[in-house]
Amino acid sequence: MANSKYAYVRNFELPDPLLPNTFLVFRLDGHSFHRFSDTHNFTKPNDVRALQLMDHAARDTMQVHPDIVLGFGESDEYSFLLKKSTTIYNRRQSKILSTLTSQFTSSYVFHWTTYFPETPLQYPPSFDGRIVLYPTSKEVKDYFAWRQADTHINNLYNTTFWALVQQGGQSTTEAHATLRGTFSKDKHEILFSRFNINYNMLDPRFRKGSVLVREEVDNEEETGPRRPQMTRITLIHCDLIKDEFWDNRPWLLSD
Ligand code: GTP
Ligand code: MG
Repeated sequence: MANSKYAYVRNFELPDPLLPNTFLVFRLDGHSFHRFSDTHNFTKPNDVRALQLMDHAARDTMQVHPDIVLGFGESDEYSFLLKKSTTIYNRRQSKILSTLTSQFTSSYVFHWTTYFPETPLQYPPSFDGRIVLYPTSKEVKDYFAWRQADTHINNLYNTTFWALVQQGGQSTTEAHATLRGTFSKDKHEILFSRFNINYNMLDPRFRKGSVLVREEVDNEEETGPRRPQMTRITLIHCDLIKDEFWDNRPWLLSD
């Protein structure tokens, strides 16, 4: 009785369904990771422990949510692709966004000491999250190409910048000035001629980012007709920009 008097407030909770039958891309990004990476002494330009921790949190998130078929990570961000047909949480936007963001964040904190055994967490990190809907596979491919192109541009800049500072003895102001107005080929040339670094030989993890791809596993032996398809999540550092990646994995974009 008493309850019904108040229950009308429920009506202020508005539905927030995501358009059916569209690809769902969920991206999260570390909040103020410029500060977070400084406070926790991340290696410059790339901290492999931090990147592996991101991969671990992303894998956990994909394990909990089978409708995520692909992940792509770089720096303090991760993007995830959900199947066009997904009905996860009835496609309620805030439910999906908040659950996935908090799953990733708690995994990141949970596994922190595995990757940073000698660096206690100084404060709790957080991530922002967003969901973008894409109607066709073209936009999905272009989305991931966009993120990987960003990885390349940032990594080439940062690698050259920190080589100038750490090995070239320049101040950060001088290094910024050295790089102002340079093109990609100039940065390759600085790296090679001054520091004997062949950019293309650097760890593909840094150049390409991290790709977590869900693949189906043959489970005919352990059958039972109702058994859900077994899948495996594989980490690779490959090109996402050319069509080859998608052509070899048609299940990512089909239903
Ligand atoms: P908001 O996302 O807007 O909250 O700001 P942010 O400070 O997180 O910056 P942004 O997401 O644009 O960029 C990520 C930042 O994280 C980079 O600028 C770096 O300062 C830091 N970062 C990410 N990965 C690494 C790494 O491997 N090593 C180091 N040293 N820093 C990193
Ligand atoms: Mg950030």
